[in-house]
Amino acid sequence: MQRIVDVIGISGSLRKGSYNTGLLRAAVELAPEDLQLQIFDLSNIPLYNEDVRTVGYPEPVKEFRDRLASADALLIATPEYNHSFSGVLKNAIDWASRPPNPPIIGKPVAIMSASMGNFGGIRAQMDLRLILDGLMRPVNQPEVIVAKAQEKFDANGRLIDETTRGFIKELLMALVDWTQLLNRK
Ligand SMILES: Cc1cc2nc3c(=O)[nH]c(=O)nc-3n(C[C@H](O)[C@H](O)[C@H](O)COP(=O)(O)O)c2cc1C
Repeated sequence: MQRIVDVIGISGSLRKGSYNTGLLRAAVELAPEDLQLQIFDLSNIPLYNEDVRTVGYPEPVKEFRDRLASADALLIATPEYNHSFSGVLKNAIDWASRPPNPPIIGKPVAIMSASMGNFGGIRAQMDLRLILDGLMRPVNQPEVIVAKAQEKFDANGRLIDETTRGFIKELLMALVDWTQLLNRK
C-alpha cells in the first residue's frame, strides 16, 4: 500500500473572501483518501530582502520553508492580477527558492486559479507555469481554471459548482499519482 501524500496548499490572495483560498478549502473537502492537505496562510511572509536573508530567515519564512520541506507536494491557488499571478505568490516562491536546501526545488506541484473575469486566471497560470517549470515538477492535466468565480461559490465561500468540484478531485488524484511516480525508487 502506498503511503499518504502530504500536501501544503497556498493561496496567492490574502483577502478574507478570496475565491482562490475557497478553492483550497474545497480541495481539503474533496481530497482522496491517500492525500492530506493543509493550507498554509502566506499573510505573515515579509517582502523578500536579500540582506535579511543573509542575516537569517524571518520566523514566518522559516515556518513556511520547513513546512514545504516536510511536505511531499505543493498545491497553489492563484488569482490573476494584471494578467499575471500575484506578487504575494512570487514573493513566497522567491523565499522558498533560496539556499540552504531550497525546499521548493524538484517538488511536485499542482495549480488552480480563479478569477471574476471570463478567462479564469489562465494568463496567471501560464506565467506561473513558466517559472515553476524551472523549479518544480508541475502536474499538467487537468487544468483547474475557474472563470466568473463569483457565480460558483455560495454566500459562505463554499464552492458549489459541481463541474469545478469534479476537476479539483481529478487534479488531486493526478497529484497523488505524479508524486508517487516521482518518489518511486
Ligand atoms: C490588482 C488586481 C488586478 C486584477 N487583474 C485581473 C486580471 O488581469 N484578470 C482577471 O481576470 N481578474 C483580475 N482581477 C480581478 C480578480 O480576478 C478578482 O479580484 C479575484 O476575486 C481575485 O482573486 P481572489 O478572490 O482569490 O482574491 C484583478 C484584481 C486585482 C486586485
